[in-house]
Amino acid sequence: MTPPRRGHLEHHEPDIRCEDLVRIYHTDGVEVQALQGLNLTVDRGDLVALVGASGSGKSTLLAILSGHDRPTGGRATVAGVDLLTMTPKQRVHFQRHLVGFVWQQTSRNLFPFLTAAENVAMPIAIAGGKQDARARELLDLLDVADCADRRPGQLSGGQQQRVAIATALAGSPRVLFADEPTGELDEANSGAVLEAMTHAAEQLGTTVLVVTHDPRISEHVRRTIQIRDGRTSTEVLRRSEVADDGRLRLVAEEYTVIDRAGRIQLPESHVRDLGLEHRVRLRKEPDHVGVYAADDRAPVGREGARRGMDEEES
Ligand SMILES: Nc1ncnc2c1ncn2[C@@H]1O[C@H](COP(=O)(O)OP(=O)(O)OP(=O)(O)O)[C@@H](O)[C@H]1O
Ligand SMILES: [Mg+2]
Repeated sequence: MTPPRRGHLEHHEPDIRCEDLVRIYHTDGVEVQALQGLNLTVDRGDLVALVGASGSGKSTLLAILSGHDRPTGGRATVAGVDLLTMTPKQRVHFQRHLVGFVWQQTSRNLFPFLTAAENVAMPIAIAGGKQDARARELLDLLDVADCADRRPGQLSGGQQQRVAIATALAGSPRVLFADEPTGELDEANSGAVLEAMTHAAEQLGTTVLVVTHDPRISEHVRRTIQIRDGRTSTEVLRRSEVADDGRLRLVAEEYTVIDRAGRIQLPESHVRDLGLEHRVRLRKEPDHVGVYAADDRAPVGREGARRGMDEEES
C-alpha cells in the first residue's frame, strides 16, 4: 500500500529524504551516536508526527533537517537542497525561504519587544511580500487575530505558540519543523494549538514534521514515525475507509522500515510477546515473509515454519 497523501497534491520529489543519516557528537572525549543511519522519506504536503523516547535523536534530526546543525555522514535533502554540500550562502537562503521552525520553548520563538503582527511581518518583509495584510491573514488562520497588537509577554503560552507558528509559516516555507511545540502547554491548550497548526499547514500545502509526546496529535495525523536509538523503527499509517455498513471508519496499520540492505526492526512488543531472541526462522510465502521464534523443539504446529527454513537452507 502506498502511504496516504493529502488531497490533490501531484507527484513531486519527496520534500524530506534521509539515507543512512549519521550524527556523532564528541564531548569531553566521549562519543555519542545521536543518529545511527537513519532513513526517512516525507512526501510533499504530508504531515508527519515523530515520536520516540527521550534521547532517541528527535531534536538532533530536526536540527539537521532545518539547517541548524550538520550531519556527520549519510545523505539528506530537504526541499531539494542537499544538506551535506550546502554552502553558507545556500544555508541562509534555505532557512529564510524553504523551511520554518518552531521551538518548544515559547520564549525562543518570538522577539519579545515586537508585537505579534510585527513578529509575523518580519519574515514576510525579508521575503519581500506585503507585510501587514499577510501577517494578519496568518494570525487569523491560527485563530489569534485578536492578539495582533500585543507583545509576547502579554499573551498566554498557547497564544504565543500560535503566533510562533504563524511566524514560521510567514516566509511561505515548503517544510515546517516543530520540536515539541506544545511541550510547555497544558493538555487542553496543546490540543488546540496542534489542531490550528495542522489546519494551517493543510491550507497552505506545507509539509510538516512535528516532534510530539502528545498521543492525540499522533493519533490524528496520517503518519506517525517512531524513532529509536537514532533510527526510524516503526511507523503507523492511518486512513479512513468505507466499511460494509457504509460508515466511515479509521484504519491504523503499523509498518516497519526496511533499509536498502534489507534490514528491518521488529516492534519491541512483538519481540517480547513471541519470545524472539538471538535468531528467528524466516519463511517466504508468495505475498509475505513469516518470522517465527527459533525454537529447535518446535511443536508440530510450527512444522510449516521449519519447512520454510529448510527450503532456504537447501
Ligand atoms: N550538542 C550535543 N552534544 C553532545 N551530545 C548531544 C548533543 N545534543 C544531543 N546530544 C545527545 O544525542 C542524543 C540524542 O539527543 P536528542 O536531543 O536528539 O534527543 P531527543 O529525542 O530530542 O530527546 P528529548 O525527547 O529528551 O528531547 C542524546 O544522547 C543526547 O545526549
Ligand atoms: Mg528533543
